[in-house]
Amino acid sequence: MKTTNPYNRNTKRYAKPFSLALLLSLMSLPVWAQNNAQGITFSKDIMPILQDNCQECHRPQGQGPMSFMTYEEVRPWAPLIQYKVVNRQMPPWHIDRTIGIQQFKNDRSLSDEEVRIISDWVNAGAPEGNSADLPPTREFADSGEWSIGEPDVVVTWEYNVPAVGADLFGDIYSTDLIGKFSEGRYIKAIQTRAADDASRRVVHHALSYASSDNNRNNPEEDQFLVEYASGKSAEIYPDNSGVLLPPDSEVRLSYHMHPVGVETNAKIELGIVFHPEGYDPEYRRWSKQLAQRQSLLDIPGGEIVRTDGYVYFHTNTTITAFQPHMHGLGSYQCLELIYPTQGPTAKTETISCAHWDYNWHTIYNYADDVAPLVPAGTVAHLISYFDNTASNPGNHDARNWTGDGGRTIDEMSFAWLGWYSMTDEQYIAELERRKNLQNESETEIAFIGE
Ligand code: HEC
Repeated sequence: MKTTNPYNRNTKRYAKPFSLALLLSLMSLPVWAQNNAQGITFSKDIMPILQDNCQECHRPQGQGPMSFMTYEEVRPWAPLIQYKVVNRQMPPWHIDRTIGIQQFKNDRSLSDEEVRIISDWVNAGAPEGNSADLPPTREFADSGEWSIGEPDVVVTWEYNVPAVGADLFGDIYSTDLIGKFSEGRYIKAIQTRAADDASRRVVHHALSYASSDNNRNNPEEDQFLVEYASGKSAEIYPDNSGVLLPPDSEVRLSYHMHPVGVETNAKIELGIVFHPEGYDPEYRRWSKQLAQRQSLLDIPGGEIVRTDGYVYFHTNTTITAFQPHMHGLGSYQCLELIYPTQGPTAKTETISCAHWDYNWHTIYNYADDVAPLVPAGTVAHLISYFDNTASNPGNHDARNWTGDGGRTIDEMSFAWLGWYSMTDEQYIAELERRKNLQNESETEIAFIGE
């Protein structure tokens, strides 16, 4: 097994980002760096990068804490911007770039070149340059826009969260889909979100399920649809797959809210885009919490703890998405596959590792040509790290012992995986297709399961 030590990246832990960034910008630069930085200006080089990668969130009404629409707005933040992009904390995309699959459908990270340009620009004193070089201002649709495109149906729930009190857990049902369509429909894309800033503050997570027989007594039979948690991005299924939504379903929202000091009417929305009516995708897709920790979590104050979870694949499978899940102490998670072969062909493979920041429940949607192909009998092994030391910015008090539990201040360890099962014929055909792809191009394609 190839291993990686997440704690080499000490730079991820920042107690005083300003001082480090300031130090970087005050350090005298080697000549090559000065040459490199020469001519880089905000108007010509930096604004296009911010427009493409940051302004979606960093604008008035965006979800980022400050706006980056003009030079005046950006300049005071230059050192912190440098720190955040060099350490790959912004844009939020925490996949470990040194290990595993790197092609995703929703990759929002900067290229190495873009990081270098921003860093050199800050080192050069963040010059504005000539405003005539500015690209046209980027226009944004209102912040109510869905990242899956205009949904065919939107389901909404409301819940009144009191100002103070313990964490709240429970189920609420919506009848918004009753009578909407008479046959089962396959979901092409789906997104849940808290509808506004106030709701975002109180909704810890919200899971939605289709309850097809309107049978509230047997919730364990409900079909899981999608999960929402802070910073959650949209789930994108491969074109030839879909999640089946039975007709006339009530939609159950399993919620976890936490009071934040002001009474809040939390609004949660679920947007669904369907495949066309009558369309039967080749694969029926699933999404579940998998590879739960083997033993109860035991995370003493001041310590770093690792835990392991496993899941067995009974059928040939394509994994379409990976989304780590931990709470505030989580720092890093890896998904490894242990293939069902022995002797000289025995093989394990780390397919993805991601740094963890509780603000960002990012789902990593694998590009179709590299999505892990898993032969029946494979065991997925999930490795999670929890950092209960004071250097973890997500840690409220490093003196506290922390263990399993559902509250925000407890810990969890599992991954959301999206996947579909394949027959032997489908599996072999896909393996062949990927081999041909690899022959055609020199690019490296994941060949898992050989
Ligand atoms: C998907 C939305 C999103 C994108 C895209 C994004 N940001 Fe952010 N940014 C946030 C949010 C939300 C926060 C506050 C929470 C956090 O720090 O995780 C933040 C925090 C920051 C901070 C730190 C603010 C502080 O006071 O600690 C900086 C600096 C920053 N972003 C810069 C950038 C830059 C530069 C880009 C583009 C290269 C970018 N961000 C892209 C949403 C985003």
